[in-house]
Amino acid sequence: MTQQLMTAVVCPKYGSPEVLSLSEVPKPSPKSNEILIKTVATTVSHGDVRIRGLDVPKSIKPMIRLVLGFNGPRNNILGLELSGIVEEVGSDVTKFQKGDHVLAATLQNFGGYAHYKCLPEKGAIAFKPPSVTFEQAAAIPIGARTALHYLRRCNLQEGQKILIYGASGSVGTYAIQLAKYIGAHVTAVSSKTNESLVKSLGADEFRDYQDSGFNESLDVYDVILVTIGNLQFSIGKEHLTSSGVYMNVSEPMKSLEMIWTSFTTEKKVVMAENSEESAEDLQFLINMVGDGKLKPVIDSRYRLGEIVEAHRYVESRRKKGNVVVLVD
Ligand SMILES: NC(=O)c1ccc[n+]([C@@H]2O[C@H](COP(=O)([O-])OP(=O)(O)OC[C@H]3O[C@@H](n4cnc5c(N)ncnc54)[C@H](OP(=O)(O)O)[C@@H]3O)[C@@H](O)[C@H]2O)c1
Repeated sequence: MTQQLMTAVVCPKYGSPEVLSLSEVPKPSPKSNEILIKTVATTVSHGDVRIRGLDVPKSIKPMIRLVLGFNGPRNNILGLELSGIVEEVGSDVTKFQKGDHVLAATLQNFGGYAHYKCLPEKGAIAFKPPSVTFEQAAAIPIGARTALHYLRRCNLQEGQKILIYGASGSVGTYAIQLAKYIGAHVTAVSSKTNESLVKSLGADEFRDYQDSGFNESLDVYDVILVTIGNLQFSIGKEHLTSSGVYMNVSEPMKSLEMIWTSFTTEKKVVMAENSEESAEDLQFLINMVGDGKLKPVIDSRYRLGEIVEAHRYVESRRKKGNVVVLVD
């Protein structure tokens, strides 16, 4: 029997956005416990950009090459989240059936930048409510799940004050909305350009990180969540309550000051960590979108053939919310 092919974007080696190209590759077929999803939309996340460019600290590059692949990603079709339609199910699958509209996190072995993707039925896959578009659904698994993970991690409570630094990116735009849902008082930090965006998502207060009086404009917070940018820890910790939590989703625990602070005070420091991909969390988040309680911010849309431009844009670190790629 001849092997069926599908169109995908492949990343044969680490490098600039130009290493990405459209290619015809074998179409996967589901094992007995898997479903085959016809992808409708995926995204270019900051994670895709970092993997493509092997953009990790020098000290851990050899280890990351071992894990991901030496000269290029072993799983060379990137795309860490997707939405689509179930086209086929394996013989043991009971949860899904052909025609279901779903969204999935594909952080484990990527694969969103292709017309088809096979995933185990027990993976992080959720049903898309009819009122949610495929574009919106594709933009949930990474940013929204990360924001949810960190807000749970600090046990954010109604009435508490949270500072969200880097509030206009994917994680930030979801964090504002989830923190407001919990009933917290949100101060959002971005450039002036994004003031109206972060306020429209519910932020109670706004601070411009480019303002010369930025540090002096800060209050005291129960939680500081840094998603991007350079809020120095030494400044952040001065603006925490005595048992406040400082969290940074993209930096590892790197200074003695952080370790010292968490050992010698009641302040807690939570740095970049993996959050478990769970179908339950995805379903919770997508249902919130369906109920109108959470709004994915879509900055722009590209077609699969425009993936190089999409990567260049995301790499600029100017995207607002999420960048969606229409696959079908
Ligand atoms: N730990 C995890 O599980 C996990 C999961 C997902 C993501 N992440 C990490 O989280 C980080 C954030 O990802 P993201 O997708 O939310 O971000 P992003 O979308 O790439 O961030 C873009 C936004 O950041 C703002 N920005 C740029 N420079 C800034 C600065 N110096 N200070 C404050 N804001 C700045 C820009 O707004 P302005 O134009 O207003 O500056 C832009 O709107 C990434 O490093 C990603 O790798 C971690």
